[in-house]
Amino acid sequence: MSDDQKKSNLPPHVPAPQHERAEQAGANDQSIQKVHAILLREKEEPSEGFTPMPLFLLGIISTMILVCSIYVVHYRGDFDPLVYDHRYDAVAAKAAASGPKVLTPEQFVAAGKRQYATCVACHQASGLGVAGVYPPLAASEWVLGNEERLIRVLLHGLNGPIQVKGNTYNGLMPAFGKVPGGGYNWSNERIAQVLTYIRQEWGNTAAPITTEKVAEVLKAEAARTKPWTQDELKPFE
Ligand code: HEC
Repeated sequence: MSDDQKKSNLPPHVPAPQHERAEQAGANDQSIQKVHAILLREKEEPSEGFTPMPLFLLGIISTMILVCSIYVVHYRGDFDPLVYDHRYDAVAAKAAASGPKVLTPEQFVAAGKRQYATCVACHQASGLGVAGVYPPLAASEWVLGNEERLIRVLLHGLNGPIQVKGNTYNGLMPAFGKVPGGGYNWSNERIAQVLTYIRQEWGNTAAPITTEKVAEVLKAEAARTKPWTQDELKPFE
């Protein structure tokens, strides 16, 4: 029976129901009990207190926290914003912050390599020099030999004929030290760095040269204003 037919069977003073459910009363006692019975069957009775977390879950979470803590402690980089700089070195940064800058031996040589950019034009990146014009530094007895002589060459320069690895050169090596008339005026530290570098590059293996040693030689030769000659350096061979 459709709604239209239903409507036509009712007496005219009775309003037609809008919908079947509109006629029904709200929930009665019976229907409430019925619903509660279903709920009771399907859901557990609520109880006081709490259920403990399953042990394995507790284990997993504790392990995660432990691993994360170790990771953070290990890689925190002192929470320094500079930590994203790939050259950042927490130990060196601390040393720099407290007192004068102290370079590690590797940093010292690396700095020397940068200074060597000035020497490249003549002695070449290969350290082999230019035949007949600029003497080689690789396997040179001047570089590997007595540091007293080598430091003097760098500080004041070198002039006139010299022998390197059996060949004679006759040119002018400029003065690099803070000496009267010297063009480059490099600090003792820069000189020590570049000398340490050329003593350890291209297969050279000679002891490093310290800034203190350069300062000592500079002091000893304070009166000198001219480049050295090979003969003058004989005592330091
Ligand atoms: C303008 C070119 C020039 C530059 C720059 C130069 N040199 Fe030299 N160097 C020479 C010449 C030329 C000689 C040979 C001097 C002579 O004949 O008396 C020489 C000689 C030397 C020697 C001794 C001989 C040998 O081969 O071992 C050393 C060591 C040396 N130079 C190191 C350096 C270093 C380190 C630098 C950079 C800090 C440098 N030179 C920059 C031209 C240069």
